[in-house]
Amino acid sequence: MARSAIINVMVQAALKAGRSLARDFGEVQNLQVSLKGPADYVSQADKRAEEILFNELSRARPGYSFLMEERGGVAGDDPQHRWIVDPLDGTTNFLHGIPFFAISIALERQGQIVAGVIYNPAMNELFTAERGSGAFCNEHRMRVAARRDLGHSVIATGLPFLGHGNHGQALLDLRNVMGEVSGIRRFGAASLDLAYVAAGRFDGFWEDSLKPWDMAAGILMVREAGGYVSDRQGGQTMLTSGSIVCGNEDIHAKLLRQLQIKR
Ligand code: IPD
Ligand code: CA
Ligand code: CA
Ligand code: CA
Repeated sequence: MARSAIINVMVQAALKAGRSLARDFGEVQNLQVSLKGPADYVSQADKRAEEILFNELSRARPGYSFLMEERGGVAGDDPQHRWIVDPLDGTTNFLHGIPFFAISIALERQGQIVAGVIYNPAMNELFTAERGSGAFCNEHRMRVAARRDLGHSVIATGLPFLGHGNHGQALLDLRNVMGEVSGIRRFGAASLDLAYVAAGRFDGFWEDSLKPWDMAAGILMVREAGGYVSDRQGGQTMLTSGSIVCGNEDIHAKLLRQLQIKR
């Protein structure tokens, strides 16, 4: 399948930033790691990848705005378009030598996510999606898994880091889901968790306290692969509330039900 011009721009930027991450992977002693808050690390690898993405995307589409994890919001003179970028999703994994991290790029047009690219350079997996045109992994069409029974499902989640989020709620959610599903995974990169749901590897995923750059591309990807995405109340506040739940229609509904249980 031929890629559209906009997906090509995003893929070229992701591949270039991916080469930078691949060079830095395993070089933690040279990466000037610092803390933004408790357990919230940033390194030269995050910053170098972000610089590349900013330069590549602004050169290809001058004037578009940005929302990037490390430099925050950058206003462009085109109010209709905004890139939402995580230059390194899974920094903790990266700094521990665990090859599960990604670059995530979404394009928002008039407030709607229209294109997404998620790239894991360590596994050389490139996930792409464009609104209305489906979702792909290395050019193969993706579909969410068909399993309907939670008891046969593998569900991914993210747990709050030290000093972040609501640990009590996270434990309650974990217990309420763990009692019903075949298995739970916590791999440590939300963008890839979403890409894996789109690919049918995970049957579902939920997490709270995410940022728009963790999930903007992945939300589109899951939907384009036929999945359902909402916040934990069943609404569409994901990008503002940070809460996300997804899976196929049945798994999504069943996960929502488990996450409502108060004890
Ligand atoms: C983190 C990862 C992780 C999720 C955290 C995110 P970062 O992103 O996506 O899986 O649980 O909430 O902050 O900081 O590595 O880009
Ligand atoms: Ca971070
Ligand atoms: Ca992230
Ligand atoms: Ca990041």
